[in-house]
Amino acid sequence: MSSKSSRRTFISATVASFAWLITGGRAAATTPAISAGAPCKVKGKERTVDGVTFVCRNAKGKLVWRQKPGEATTKVITVRVLESAELELGKTKVVNAPAPNGGTTGVVLTRTGAGISAFRVNCTHAGFPVARVGAVLECELHGSQFNPETGAAVTGPATRALGRYEASESNGGIYVTITSA
Ligand code: FES
Repeated sequence: MSSKSSRRTFISATVASFAWLITGGRAAATTPAISAGAPCKVKGKERTVDGVTFVCRNAKGKLVWRQKPGEATTKVITVRVLESAELELGKTKVVNAPAPNGGTTGVVLTRTGAGISAFRVNCTHAGFPVARVGAVLECELHGSQFNPETGAAVTGPATRALGRYEASESNGGIYVTITSA
């Protein structure tokens, strides 16, 4: 190697060292990816990646990243649950619709003069399924009654309205939008 080229090598190595000293090596360092269950170092430390916040927690003697409670991703699905012709004006039907997080959820649908109403089938008193009885949705366990158009409790012991789902109708079908809790 000529003395000229070794001088050039020395100078570029020196410049690189200075750059490293100035940046503290940050330019070259890559930020480690975070995912739930990956190891972390400082208990309680939080980091946000792509809008999801992780917190460093102790799990069975090891520090690992966990998704911060209350920030779980909400899932929404819209499913065709009935053909339009299957729900006549004034009538009610109960269907099982797929739930966003697996399993199914019961939905009680009624076609009223104002459109189609869709509610979670479970009574807000203790969860027993409601059914259409005369002009109301009734829970036969303790006798609560609900308005099939609004879901409001009209007879106790339940006091809260049935959980409402978004319902729509298009292309000859009835759709319900279900959001994970
Ligand atoms: S569970 Fe429906 S009234 Fe009690």
